[in-house]
Amino acid sequence: MRNILVTGGAGFIGSHLVRLLVNKYPDYHIINMDVLTYAGNLENLKDIENKENYTFIKCDICDVEKVNQVFKKYQIDSVIHLAAESHVDRSIKDPFSFARTNVMGTLSLLQAAKETWNGNFTNKLFYHVSTDEVYGSLEEEGFFTEETAYDPHSPYSASKASSDHFVRAFADTYGLPVVISNCSNNYGSYQFPEKLIPLFINNIVNNKPLPVYGTGENVRDWLFVDDHARAIDVIFHNGKLGETYNIGGFNEWKNIDLIKVMIKTVDRLLGREEGTSDKLITYVTDRAGHDLRYAIDSSKLKNELGWEPSLQFEEGIEKTVAWYLENQEWLDNVTSGDYQAYYQKMYTK
Ligand code: NAD
Ligand code: DAU
Repeated sequence: MRNILVTGGAGFIGSHLVRLLVNKYPDYHIINMDVLTYAGNLENLKDIENKENYTFIKCDICDVEKVNQVFKKYQIDSVIHLAAESHVDRSIKDPFSFARTNVMGTLSLLQAAKETWNGNFTNKLFYHVSTDEVYGSLEEEGFFTEETAYDPHSPYSASKASSDHFVRAFADTYGLPVVISNCSNNYGSYQFPEKLIPLFINNIVNNKPLPVYGTGENVRDWLFVDDHARAIDVIFHNGKLGETYNIGGFNEWKNIDLIKVMIKTVDRLLGREEGTSDKLITYVTDRAGHDLRYAIDSSKLKNELGWEPSLQFEEGIEKTVAWYLENQEWLDNVTSGDYQAYYQKMYTK
């Protein structure tokens, strides 16, 4: 029996991870702590919400007192920490909320773990889920490895880098058993449609402009979200304490090429003539401080722990587009209300 606190479990990656853990490990108690920001949605977990080994707790990770109570009440022995403000564009508009959640929130969890475990670290683990963006930006060649020096550029990546440093500081200073993984861009179902892939699928369906930042030449390394959840499972169980593992898809795409694949796939699945939606491509002002290229070398994870991506990109993107087309109601629910105001602010001059 383990009592695992997953933070941010109602979000995109968190919900896939919670589902995997609840279904795969009936002997583990999965406690999902999430404050349900605009990005957190309990509909993402409808299929497992009544499972006996699952508990949801609405709680802000910055609420030190409540976080401490949860650690004690549920005798938490492991943490998998995903809760975060995660969207780069929002961090450019409002850096403070990123420092609060990503830095102070991580610190509050670290402190609760340290105090509750009180020096007894047997079978304890604090697993921090981070991003490849902490490494900065690559030119056309090369990959991020676990040894790449940190060089964050956006308020989001600076806040994640800071949280990584706090996690390592708690290991070095107090002996807290920690592990960190840094992953590349995820795609798949249940992603809030402010990020490139779900936003563009939704816009193509609705014949809305596709706002391509700058020249569309920026490169991202895309990984299917369930493969990220599987990697977290592998690292959680077999990762070496104190280590960092990079997770990536060896699957680089220029934004503009990826956008063309999405247009083709949506048009085909909707029975539209090929090329119908090409006219929606609209080049707009570039994102401030836009990193040119991310590419992860995940060979450490492959060689030491045997993890590899399971899905080819062609299959993954087809599945993803089909999911959004079949789940229009989910999209409508998350894109109503506050989201409309956000969209106006970000994309209307
Ligand atoms: P997301 O924005 O979809 O979900 C974040 C979740 O955290 C939401 O459910 C939200 O309600 C919750 N949350 C936010 N602030 C909180 C707070 N103060 N207290 C409690 N809960 C709070 O994010 P995601 O894309 O699923 O990312 C999850 C984690 O993985 C993040 O730490 C992110 O940095 C990291 N990551 C994401 C990607 C990606 O491509 N999406 C890639 C690498 C790493
Ligand atoms: O690399 C991992 C990171 O990937 C995660 O840590 C972040 O949480 C996650 O949001 C993601 O960050 P990106 O900034 O790479 O993702 P986003 O989907 O916002 O953008 C992907 C690329 O598409 C990026 O080069 C910017 C571009 N873009 C994005 C949007 C929303 C556009 O051209 N137009 C858009 O409207």
